[in-house]
Order: sequence, then structure tokens, then C-alpha cells
Amino acid sequence: MVRLVSQFIALAALVCAALAKPMSERAMAVYDRRPAPARGFVNSGAPSAGKQLTLRLALKQNNIAGLEKRLYAVSDPASVEYGHHLSADEVAEFVKPTSDTLSSVTAWLTEHDLSAKPVSHAGDILEITLPVAKANSLLATEFSVFTHLDSGKTSIRTLSYSLPVDLQAHIDNITPTTSFLPPVVGPQFAAVDSSPQKRQACGLVNNPACINGLYDINTKRKANQSTNILGVAGFIDQYANEADLKQFLASQRPDIDPSTTFTLQTLYDGSNPQDPSLSGIEANLDIQYTIGIATGVPVTFISVGPDAPDGLSGFLDIINTLISEPSDTRPNVLSTSYAFDEQDLPQSLATTLCNAYLQLGAMGTSVIFSSGDLGVGGTRGLTCTRFLPTLPSNCPWVTSVGAVNGYGDQAASYSGGGFSNYFPTPDYQASDVAAFLQMLGDQYSGLYNSTGRAFPDVSATGNNFEIVWQGQVVQVSGTSASAPVFASMIALLNDELIGHGRPPLGFLNPFLYNATVRSFGIADVRFGSNPGCGTAGFTAGTGWDPVTGVGNPKFYGLRGALGLCDPLSCSFE
Ligand SMILES: *[C@@H]1O[C@H](CO)[C@@H](O)[C@H](O)[C@H]1NC(C)=O
Ligand SMILES: *[C@@H]1O[C@H](CO)[C@@H](O)[C@H](O)[C@H]1NC(C)=O
Ligand SMILES: *[C@@H]1O[C@H](CO)[C@@H](O)[C@H](O)[C@H]1NC(C)=O
Repeated sequence: MVRLVSQFIALAALVCAALAKPMSERAMAVYDRRPAPARGFVNSGAPSAGKQLTLRLALKQNNIAGLEKRLYAVSDPASVEYGHHLSADEVAEFVKPTSDTLSSVTAWLTEHDLSAKPVSHAGDILEITLPVAKANSLLATEFSVFTHLDSGKTSIRTLSYSLPVDLQAHIDNITPTTSFLPPVVGPQFAAVDSSPQKRQACGLVNNPACINGLYDINTKRKANQSTNILGVAGFIDQYANEADLKQFLASQRPDIDPSTTFTLQTLYDGSNPQDPSLSGIEANLDIQYTIGIATGVPVTFISVGPDAPDGLSGFLDIINTLISEPSDTRPNVLSTSYAFDEQDLPQSLATTLCNAYLQLGAMGTSVIFSSGDLGVGGTRGLTCTRFLPTLPSNCPWVTSVGAVNGYGDQAASYSGGGFSNYFPTPDYQASDVAAFLQMLGDQYSGLYNSTGRAFPDVSATGNNFEIVWQGQVVQVSGTSASAPVFASMIALLNDELIGHGRPPLGFLNPFLYNATVRSFGIADVRFGSNPGCGTAGFTAGTGWDPVTGVGNPKFYGLRGALGLCDPLSCSFE
């Protein structure tokens, strides 16, 4: 008896000792490593040991494959569950970490006197704040200050970090650590022409009248669903200027109230100062061509601060914020015209981001990105030896928008397109991509990944958009222009659907690749190519291609495909 008790006490003492064990006694192993910082960054030495770092821990999500199945079920027009989007809590059931994951990771942090706070709705992302010295010992690493040479911007990163061996299966990644994103540089435009405007014909120039004409959008039909929000994301200190918008509407949309404007939402110290000199080309383009095309649709400009703590320039934070929002302020469509090169982001982090789009899509938001403006060359254009897919277009759960010329019959030569090296070809595009690859044969073999998610999905007019910027009319071209135009068409369709008591379209791709939808609502684009990396790029042809996707939408045909009018006699009404 006595012995038993003493044994029990001894055992208890052992357990206490184990709990109090310093971290160094957990076996650590390198979890992520890169040989050098990304192009353009140099190591400028150690940060001060007491400097506070905010780190994010992405925990293993319990059933992403299950959520993917649900996404298809609610997004495929052939499914009986089409349109039955999930709530944030339903999504969280698939995404939240298991209790084993949560308790294992929490125990480890507690050993280090750290407490974590969840920063995502499902609790799969935890945040800790700690001094650099402590982060160095926690992750058996050495954080350094890295300077981005072109911009002079500094960030604290490391080339490798370790995790306890027993936790490696529970943690997907810790950020910011080994990701070196160039500060998102301003959007790239194929042309910015600020010369005084000669009046040119539609086709040579683009403005709301030309676009509404090209797509048969009836501007007399004003959207009226007050919670059918079209979100426009703004990053890198790109500010949408109200005076420029007013001037734009007065000249381009004299039929609507020139004081029509957008709602501002700010995240992580985002802002939208109105000093004319701070007016941004991209932000103005996106705002003017959503408000100018999606007549009557409420537009929210979501401005994300430059130092969003996700280590991803706010790309992940904006999505996690929207997932947590009530459904009446969460946009049904989110349009973003900024991108990175896929290779600049570690695959694990790209996956965390892509899984966030999966969640928002399952909740019924159409997540729309421009495909890039340098053809097959990602954001680099010429200086590449292998085609560079852009991110987030590389993610199967977003809709990637390429560009066509002003007549809609030919690809714009800058239209970004290609194949991901991180994500496999999703089912909804598998047969289209296979047909394209068969046509391509062995051209470019070795320059791209034939088993990857292929993009763009669709394309829209992108050349010579007249915008007002800092009080002047300038012309800009790019998939940056195509994305808000396509997003506006989807927002208008959603308005009509909701008006009929139907759900918004949500994740679009199974709908866009559907043969019936295409036969009514998409015009295949068969000419043009997207040169880059010293090659002629891919060539547009019959069917899907990595230049224009399935093609250029026909707004009335999409209405018909959705049963909003008789598909055989849909007309301008
Ligand atoms: C396309 O969608 C329609 C419903 O609009 C559905 O009946 C059809 O099966 C779908 N086609 C394919 C190939 O999934
Ligand atoms: C919205 O507009 C449609 C047609 O444009 C109209 O039929 C409907 O009654 C309007 N709904 C509301 C709530 O005003
Ligand atoms: C090509 O893509 C597949 C599917 O995503 C991936 O598993 C593979 O690693 C990629 N190959 C290269 C060389 O990047």
C-alpha cells in the first residue's frame, strides 16, 4: 500500500517534470528551409533581441477534402445541392483543428509561457506575440532583418526553422518565417496613356458605354438588392479617390447620380486618404469599373494596411476577415487585381491561402482574380527560364480572369495564363485541359507543369480603359481591368437571382466550365497568344486555353443559362 502510494507520487513527480521540461528537451527537426532569401532581398543583420514579433501558426485543418466535396456539391449546377451554400460555422466544422492538434500545440506553447489567440473563425490559425530572442529559441532558428533592395523595405524573416518532431503533423506552417514576398508592387499595366484624349471608337478605347454595349448590359435595369455587395480589394497603399470617381461618373455615366459612391471597409490599419496625389491607378480603375458597370450594386472598397500580420501582404487576412463577417455585409463577389509569382510563396503557405478561398467559396462568395499582365511570364515577363504561374490564380478555388481585346474576338497579348506547380488540375477543368494539352503536343514541354491547375478560367475585355486619375483621363490596359468588369457582370446576375429568391452564384468555375452554360453564355476566343519568358507563349484556339480560359462571357447568354430569360430568345430587356 505504502509502496504503491510512493510509486504513484514518484510517477506524478515525473509527469510534472515532463510538463516543466524546457523546450530543448523536445526533439526538434527542421520543418522548412530555403537556401537563400528570394531574389532582391539581402540579409542586413540581427534584429534587436527584444523586438516583438507576431507569428501565426496555421494548424492542420481536420477535413479539407470533405470541404472540397461540399464545395463541388454547392457549386456544380448539375448537383441537387447547387446553391445551398454553407454558413461560417458549417465551414468551420471541416477546417477547425482536431482537439488532439489543438491540445498538443497549446501544451507546447504553454511550456514556453506563451498563450495563443485564435485569429480565424474556425480557430485553425493561432497568433502569438513574443520577443525575437524567444522566437529564436522556440523555433531553433535565427531571425534576421532582410532588406528588399528596390523598395528599401525591411522585414524580419529566417531561412529555416524547426518544430518539435511530435508537432510536425499538427502544424502546417508558421508565418512570417521563410516567405519573402516582394512588397506587392503597383499593378502592372500594358499601357498608361495620359495624352489628351482623342475620341476613339469603341474597340480602340473602352469605357462603360463601350463595355455595356459589348456585353449587352442594359443600364436601365438597376440592381436593387441592398446586401448583394460587390467587394473590391485594395492593397499596397492604393487609394480609391472619391473626387476622381465623381468626375468619372459625371462624364461616363451621366444617367446615374454622380454622387454614387462606395462603402469603405479597412483592415489592419488600412485607410483611404483622399489627397488627390495619393489617388491610385489600380484602386480607381477597380472602383470606377465596378460602380460604372454594376449599376445599382453596392460596392465596398476593402482597404488592407501594408503591415497586415499574415506575412502575405494581407491576402490571407482579408479572406479570414470576410469569413467571420455576418452574411449581410460579406460580399457575394470579391474582385482583386493584384498578384504574386507562385514560386515566391512556400507551397504550404500557398495552400493555407488557397484553402481560405475554398472556405469563402463554399459560403457563396465568388472570388475573382486577374490572371497577370505578362503572359506566361508571371510578374517577371521576360527574365524567366520556366513559365511562371501567378498566385492566387494558381489556386483551383478562385476564378482567374484573363483579357481579350476591345472587340472581344482575340486574346490580349499580355493575358496571364499557365499551370500551377503547387495545385493539381481540378475536376471541373480536367477534360478541357486534357484536350488543350493534346493539341499542344510536346511544345514547351519542361517549361510548364502539365498536371497543374490551369488558368485563366475566363476572360473579359481589358484594353485602353479610360479612367479618371488625379483629375485626368488616362487609359490603362490589363487583366486588372478585365477582373472588375467580369466581377460586375456576376454581381448583376446575383442581383437578379436574389430578386427571384435564388442564391448567389458562389464559386463559379463548375458553372463556367459547364457545357450548357458555355453554349449559351460564353463566346470561345480562338485567336491570339500570351508571349513571355522569351517564347511566343500559349496560343488561343477552339475550346479552353491558358490564354483566354473558356472564353469571353455573353451577359445575356448567362442570364439565359440561369433561366432568367428564355435562353433561345433572351434579348436586351
Ligand atoms: C450543366 O448544368 C446543367 C444544369 O444547368 C446540368 O443539367 C448538366 O448536367 C451540366 N452539365 C455537365 C456536363 O455537368
Ligand atoms: C428590383 O428590381 C426588379 C426589376 O428591375 C423589380 O422587379 C423588383 O420589384 C425590385 N425589387 C425591389 C425590392 O425593389
Ligand atoms: C507539377 O504539379 C503537380 C501537381 O500539383 C505537383 O505534384 C508536382 O510537384 C509539380 N511538378 C513540379 C516540377 O513542380
